Amino acid sequence: MNDTSKPGNDRSDRYYQRHIFFCLNERKNGEACCTQHSAQSAFDRCKGQVKAAGLSGPGMVRVNKAGCLDRCAGGPVAVVYPEAVWYTYVDEQDIDEIVESHLKNGKVVQRLLLPAGVGR
Ligand code: FES
Repeated sequence: MNDTSKPGNDRSDRYYQRHIFFCLNERKNGEACCTQHSAQSAFDRCKGQVKAAGLSGPGMVRVNKAGCLDRCAGGPVAVVYPEAVWYTYVDEQDIDEIVESHLKNGKVVQRLLLPAGVGR
């Protein structure tokens, strides 16, 4: 049950309902990084789909770039807050499903969840 007596726990007072952060870290030393796995195009796709769905802006969804989120072994990765749900994705269909299911309707996309133990 949500405790709405504490600041920040009442969803109506949040500036954005949800944030999705995409790791766009790039390493030039050959180590694994999310940009090796089309993270930039996934970020662009997500921004476009969120806008096209009318979900962008205050009170709704914000799509943000992030540096390394320290879960590189599962890359490319993105995380949705406030639920703190971590995703790994492959293609545009995966991004579209995250937008439609989670960002629009609040339903986690189970098949794209990043396994709990994956780190750097
Ligand atoms: S490079 Fe993307 S999580 Fe580290």
